Amino acid sequence: MRNSMEKVTRKNFLKHFALFAAGVTTAPEIFASPTGFASTQRPEWLDSSNKLVLLNANENPYGVPPQAQKAIIEALAEGNRYGFINNSREKLKEKIATKEGLSKDHILLTAGSSELLGILGCAYGRDKGNMIFALPTFWLLGEYAKNLGVEVVNVPVTKEEKKHDLNAMLAKINRKTKLVQICNPNNPTGTIVDPSELKNFCIEASKKTTVFIDEAYIEFLPDKPTMAGLVTDNQNIVIGRTFSKIYGMAGLRLGYAIAHPKIVAEMDKLQQGGSISTSTGSVAGAMAAMDDTAFINSFLEKNKAAREFTINQLKTLNISYIPSYTNFVYFSLAKYPNDFVKAMKENNVLVRMFAENEEKWGRVSMGTMEEMQVFAEVLKKIWQS
Ligand SMILES: Cc1ncc(COP(=O)(O)O)c(C=O)c1O
Repeated sequence: MRNSMEKVTRKNFLKHFALFAAGVTTAPEIFASPTGFASTQRPEWLDSSNKLVLLNANENPYGVPPQAQKAIIEALAEGNRYGFINNSREKLKEKIATKEGLSKDHILLTAGSSELLGILGCAYGRDKGNMIFALPTFWLLGEYAKNLGVEVVNVPVTKEEKKHDLNAMLAKINRKTKLVQICNPNNPTGTIVDPSELKNFCIEASKKTTVFIDEAYIEFLPDKPTMAGLVTDNQNIVIGRTFSKIYGMAGLRLGYAIAHPKIVAEMDKLQQGGSISTSTGSVAGAMAAMDDTAFINSFLEKNKAAREFTINQLKTLNISYIPSYTNFVYFSLAKYPNDFVKAMKENNVLVRMFAENEEKWGRVSMGTMEEMQVFAEVLKKIWQS
């Protein structure tokens, strides 16, 4: 993989894209990430053939919750109207806010939490400066920021436990810092930070800059130690959430921010489409998904079983791994000399790989138990070959 991005001109983008769409080549290098993903991964997401085992995007493998499916089908008939219809967005904000003990003016609905990351990039990156991220972490906001000319400061996770190094991150904040991101639990390491330490960090760091807590996977934790309660009297803390993970709606695109009403109003100004980027179907689906506790609880159980199985397989092969609180597991590729993603893909299993300074790590998302059995067989085969 090339380290630096090829200069993306309109001409070479279109050339790449035409070939890529025709299946002739991999995606243009614009899809490469600073944390060292193989740049060939996104196009595979376009392959809808059933033979691929998709363990590379931390999706829910059990489909859209049944109650959400029903609600989406019912909402379809009114898809000719803009999202203001039936006040459904307001109702969803109300529902989310009530769950968090807040009022709905603390909530901004977005088309997936990726849209929120774009808004944050724009809001806090337009005056350049720097933003602070763990290495590795979810890279999208860093990528937006970099493209806006913001300096991206990477603070390595702790060596053994692979947790955010909160003290080191705090120490990196300077007068040019526009934002610091904490992803809790962290993607790709699957680790969490202690809630009281995180709370202290939020309080201290937010005196100097904006703190963004990405809680895309918070629902995987039994006690859901959210920092949402801090936003009521603090304009420098923003929380991100998504319906893409536990709620099984990745392709339906719904996420949200929790922030002080003044900040919600500011972010709202930067949202595409005059604040109606979310579709009526996804809003209806999300309302119903929140109530589908049978689906959520069964998913959590199956996810736990898949995770335990996967960890046992890694142990059997003597592969070191990081205990995970999520629907993915991070494991060392130090003993694997070849291109891990490529070797897995040749056996129809898609996973991801990360370069953490000098170290190489793999990340496997939890699929169904059957899918994890395929993963285990292929892993064993390529590891021992
Ligand atoms: C930590 C984290 N944040 C945000 C996202 C973006 O998800 P979405 O745009 O589907 O809400 C992801 C996706 O994998 C993620 O892992």
